[in-house]
Amino acid sequence: MQATVVEEVVGDFVQLKKSGSNFRGLSPFTSEKTPSFYVVPSKGIFKDFSSGKGGSAVTFLMEHEKLTYPEALKWLAGKYGIEIVEREQSAEEVAERTERESLAAVAAFAQKWFTEQLWQTDQGKSIGLGYFRGRGFNDKSLEDFLIGYAPEGDRRSSGLFAAAAMSAGYEKKWLLAAGLCKEREDGTLWDFFGGRVIFPIRDVTGRAIGFGGRTLRSDKKIAKYFNSPESPLYDKSQALYGIHMASRAISQEDRCILVEGYTDVMAMRQAGVEHVVSSSGTALSSRQVKLIKRFTSQVTMLFDGDPAGLRAAVRGVDIVLSEGLDVKVAVLPDGEDPDTFAKARTADELKAWLTEHATDFIRFKTDLLTAEAGEDPMARAELARSVVGSIAAVPDALKRSVLLQESAAQLGLKEEVLIEEMRRVAVEKVAEQKRDAARAERAAAGRVHRPATTAGQSAVAPDLVGQPPPDDPFTVGPRLAGETGQPAREKDLLRLLLLYGEQKVSLPGEPVGEGEDAVPGPPVEMSLAACLFEELEALNIEIAHGTVRNVLAIYRKAFGADGNWDTKTLTHHQDMEIAKLTADLLISPYALSENWSRHGIHPSEEGGRLIEALQSSLHRLLLDEARAEAAQVSKAIESSEGDVTALLRKKMEIQARIKDLSLHFGSTILSN
Ligand code: CTP
Ligand code: MN
Repeated sequence: MQATVVEEVVGDFVQLKKSGSNFRGLSPFTSEKTPSFYVVPSKGIFKDFSSGKGGSAVTFLMEHEKLTYPEALKWLAGKYGIEIVEREQSAEEVAERTERESLAAVAAFAQKWFTEQLWQTDQGKSIGLGYFRGRGFNDKSLEDFLIGYAPEGDRRSSGLFAAAAMSAGYEKKWLLAAGLCKEREDGTLWDFFGGRVIFPIRDVTGRAIGFGGRTLRSDKKIAKYFNSPESPLYDKSQALYGIHMASRAISQEDRCILVEGYTDVMAMRQAGVEHVVSSSGTALSSRQVKLIKRFTSQVTMLFDGDPAGLRAAVRGVDIVLSEGLDVKVAVLPDGEDPDTFAKARTADELKAWLTEHATDFIRFKTDLLTAEAGEDPMARAELARSVVGSIAAVPDALKRSVLLQESAAQLGLKEEVLIEEMRRVAVEKVAEQKRDAARAERAAAGRVHRPATTAGQSAVAPDLVGQPPPDDPFTVGPRLAGETGQPAREKDLLRLLLLYGEQKVSLPGEPVGEGEDAVPGPPVEMSLAACLFEELEALNIEIAHGTVRNVLAIYRKAFGADGNWDTKTLTHHQDMEIAKLTADLLISPYALSENWSRHGIHPSEEGGRLIEALQSSLHRLLLDEARAEAAQVSKAIESSEGDVTALLRKKMEIQARIKDLSLHFGSTILSN
C-alpha cells in the first residue's frame, strides 16, 4: 500500500490529465464525453462521477480488471517489484481456485512453455524461429510479443504440451476448458495448437488470456489460424491484440491504428509504429471500442486494397462511430498488407503515409459505394440510406450536420433529402427500442423465454432518438446532494468526520463557580472526532446505515488507539462497501458544495465553523430519530394497538421534542 501510487496504477488504464493537484480523465466504466473521472493522489483514491465508482488503487483494479482482492494485491506487488512469498498450494487449494484464476494459471503456463519451445528446442528453432526469421521478424519482436511454438508430437500418444502441463500439476479439466487440449475417445489428450506457431493474446495488463496458432503448412484445406475458444478468461469481444504494448503509444500519439492480423501488428511495431492493435480478423465490438477509448478517441483503420475485403470492413464501423470515435480509413496499395508495407518502410515514412492517406470514414464510405452503385437508381438509394445510417450514429450533432452537407454534395443529392432520411432512421430506431423494451418486459414476466436483442446493433446517436446525452455531473444537478432522508444525513455526519476528524476544535470550558457567580472555564481543545464520538454517545444517537455505523466503529477504534490515523485505512479497506463509501465522501464535490452551503462553511473559513457544522449535523439526526418515532407512534394509534392513552402521551412528548429541536436548530446542543 505504501509503494502504490494511485495515479500510476490508474494511469495504466486511463489517460489522465493533471488538473490542479489531482488528475482527470474519461471514465473507463462508461462511455462519457466529458471527463468526470478523478484521481486524488494526496488521498490515494479515485472517484468516477459517471458510474459512481470510487476507492483505492486496489478497488480500481478489482472494478476495472475484475480482479479479486488477492489478485489485485498480486498485481500491485508485480508492478512495484515486491515479492509475495506464497505457500506451495495443496491439491485441494488448487481445486478451490476460481475458474478464471485456474484458466489464467493454465494460460500463463502454456505461454511460457510455448515460448521455451520456440527458443530452446530443435523443432522450435528450426521450424518456428526459422519461419519468423524468414518473414523478416527480428528477435526483439518475437520476444516482445512472447511468440511461441507448439511442437507436433506423436499422433497416437498424449500431446507434448498436454504431458508437460499434466506433469506440472494442471488438471485435465482446465486444459480442456482453456481449449489448449482436446480429448480422444480413449481419454488421452492431444494438443489443439500442435505444429503451429503461437501468438499469445494478452489483456491490457499483459497477462496471457488466449492464443492464436498459425499453421506453417500452405495446405489450403486446413485453417490458417486456430484460436482459443471463449472462456470466462478470454472474452473475444473485449480483447485487442497488442493493446498491452500499444496503450502508451496510443495515448501519446492520440490515435489508434487498427489492422486486421497478428503479424500486421508485429510488423508495424517492428517498423517503429507502436500505436497499433488488431481485432483478430473480426469487426470491432463496442467493448473493444470502449477499450480503445480509454486511450484515444481517434482511430485509423488500415485496410488492404482488396475490394471484397473493403466492403466487409466498411460494415460494422457504425458501432465505432456511435461511440463518438473519430474514424479515418487508409487503404494500402494493391497487393500489399500492413505486414509487407511496414517491412519496406521506416517509421517516419509510415507515419507520413498514414497522415497523407487517411480519409474521413464517411467520405470514404460514400466514395467507395458511389463507385460501386454506378448509375443504378436503386443501388444509389440504398447507398444514400447506408451513408445516412453511419452519419446518424455520430453522437455529435454539429459533426453530423457537417457530414450531411458533405455527403449530400458528394452524392449529388439535396441536403434536405438526407435530413429526411435521417429522421426516418431515428424513427425506426425508436420503434426498435420500444419493441426491445416490450420484449424484455415479456421475457421478464416469464411469458417469453427469449432474450431481448442485444442493444447497440443499429447504432444511432442518443439525441436523435430523444434521449438525453450522458450527463455531466458538473453541469447536471448534484446527485449525492439529491439523496435525502436519514441515510444522507448520516453520511453527512461521516463526511465531516472524515474530512475534519483530526482538526482541533475549541469548546467552552466547564463553568467555574456556582449559580450567579459562575464564569465560563478555560476553553477545552479537542479533536472534532473525539467531540463527535462523545456527542453521539451523550445524545444516544443510533446510526441506522450499516456501512456508516461500521466506518464509525473502525474510525473510533483506530483513532483511540493512537494518533497515527490515516483515511487510507478506510478508503483501502477490504470491505468494498466501506472503501467505496469513504472514497465517495472524501472527494465528492457535490457533497462538499452542499455541505458548505448547508452549514454556511466556506472552504477558506472551514476551521472556525466546524462545531456549528457538527451541531447542525447531529441536530438533523436527532430530528430524524424523533420523526421516525413519531411516525411509529401515530401508526400504532391508528391501528389502536396497546394503551392508546399512553401512546397519545408519548406522541405529545415526541412532538414537544421535535418542536424543541426545531426551535433550537442551529444553537448549541453540545453538552458542555
Ligand atoms: N484469422 C483467423 N482465422 C483464419 C484466418 C484469419 O482467426 N483462418 C484472423 C487472425 O487473427 C489473423 C487475422 O484474422 O491475424 C487476419 O487474417 P490474415 O490477414 O489472413 O492473417 P495475418 O495475421 O496477416 O497472418 P499471415 O500474415 O501470417 O498470413
Ligand atoms: Mn498477413
